[in-house]
Amino acid sequence: MSKAILEMRNITKTFPGVKALDNVNLTVKEGEIHALVGENGAGKSTLMKVLSGIYPAGDYEGDIFFQDHKCQFKQISDSEHLGIVIIHQELALIPFLSIAENIFLGNEQHRGGVINWDKTQVKALELLKLVGLNESPDTLITNIGVGKQQLVEIAKALSKEVKLLILDEPTATLNETDSNKLLDLLVQFKNQGISSILISHKLNEVEKIADSITILRDGATIETLDCTTQKISEDHIIFGMVGRDLTHRYPERHSQIGEKVLDVRNWTVHHPLHPQRKVVDNVSFTLNKGEVLGISGLMGSGRTELAMSLFGHSYGIDIHGEVIKDGKPVNINSVNKAIANGLAYVTEDRKTYGLILDQDIKDNITLANLERVSSANVVDQNQEILHSRDYKEKFNIKCSSILQKTLNLSGGNQQKVVLSKWLFANPDILILDEPTRGIDVGAKYEIYTIINELAAAGKSIILVSSELPEILGVCDRIYVMNEGRIVGEMLRKDASQEKIMKCIMQQNGE
Ligand SMILES: Nc1ncnc2c1ncn2[C@@H]1O[C@H](COP(=O)(O)OP(=O)(O)OP(=O)(O)O)[C@@H](O)[C@H]1O
Ligand SMILES: [Mg+2]
Repeated sequence: MSKAILEMRNITKTFPGVKALDNVNLTVKEGEIHALVGENGAGKSTLMKVLSGIYPAGDYEGDIFFQDHKCQFKQISDSEHLGIVIIHQELALIPFLSIAENIFLGNEQHRGGVINWDKTQVKALELLKLVGLNESPDTLITNIGVGKQQLVEIAKALSKEVKLLILDEPTATLNETDSNKLLDLLVQFKNQGISSILISHKLNEVEKIADSITILRDGATIETLDCTTQKISEDHIIFGMVGRDLTHRYPERHSQIGEKVLDVRNWTVHHPLHPQRKVVDNVSFTLNKGEVLGISGLMGSGRTELAMSLFGHSYGIDIHGEVIKDGKPVNINSVNKAIANGLAYVTEDRKTYGLILDQDIKDNITLANLERVSSANVVDQNQEILHSRDYKEKFNIKCSSILQKTLNLSGGNQQKVVLSKWLFANPDILILDEPTRGIDVGAKYEIYTIINELAAAGKSIILVSSELPEILGVCDRIYVMNEGRIVGEMLRKDASQEKIMKCIMQQNGE
């Protein structure tokens, strides 16, 4: 048995009102891929922040041993110095700097105090090659997709001579191809002796590449499983995470589909930076009362652009087309008009469009419908508190109180606040764009249940999702998009993963 590279012993970390970690133990062996799993708010990111010195020694109880040395990191650079590198849940690259500049940010290649750009360039190229990225080092971060950005983060980690690489939900925003690429890279690192800790809610990935799995629940270690000697099933992991069996991933759905509520005709949207490019190309579709409508397609197929442009033209330029709601043409060319016409949009990017991080949970939840908690234009705090508490209970939002800033919530719990906010706005049509990204299996089920309840109450839902099982598990009808166009439509009873993929491939295959 190989020896441990890392031992975290009896780690306890408290925030005001929350014990985020309670006597947690974690042992990572040399050269292994160790998965860390648990529900939203279980303490995964916090444990990694303790490890990397973001929460300095003295801020937590317990001991950390790295390569048999006791460590008391005061800041991130202390852990990096030993080869522990963390890539956070939310990427930290600077959009308007180049790939090379980002890789060497804070670690500039210089000679006599002057940055040596030739060396920067050459080294950056070497690192990009290692992670399999063919981009020029001069390319700006803003011009590459998230999949490639993730690889740049890893190249950056490699520039620091990493021994233990920590990835906090690296594949949450990636499509299947990019995810697989990244997982292959971890295996390749492992063969070179680099250990890694992988945090993921995608249990199929964990099952595929982890050598060990540690399960956290409510800030405590439940167990560590050795996958090299026994086959570990997803059900076993789920049981450890949620403390009960979850036999069905999708709640049963009894659809009651009513009349047409939305009719979108010849919708075309152009790219804001490249005005000649059509990102949505003459799309027409309908949505009915009580219906859950899925929009499927690969990343970059125009799904999000369609959803955002419909929601008050919040994406794109030179937008054409007609929107007919409840039989009447409507003009929804601003977010306010979209909300006034009963639309709501839950975004895939909660940091940019969904939340005001500096404000508390209750302010965020009531934001899109202040009228509902106001009388004579004055916001009634008591009303705000009562409603917000309802959502906290209903969605099981893990927080010390609804007065907590959303900034301090775990990623998945932030997503639940965004969802609450838009439900509170009481829309007729709710557009959900990747609503379960970064959400644990138990909470996903809760969200699907809420989708069903909304549909049963006569609302209509548009669900944009990259996860085909989710689309198939939740929707009544499915549109498939590719390169900005709708390339297929099917009822759930006729749909399958193969059929959807075939629609996409046929279009790509010419
Ligand atoms: N800075 C903070 N201040 C107060 N509470 C915090 C802070 N950071 C985390 N918490 C709380 O600690 C708990 C653990 O959060 P953490 O982010 O570690 O969860 P997680 O397992 O990474 O969840 P997710 O899967 O949603 O990312 C949560 O209850 C969270 O609200
Ligand atoms: Mg986290």
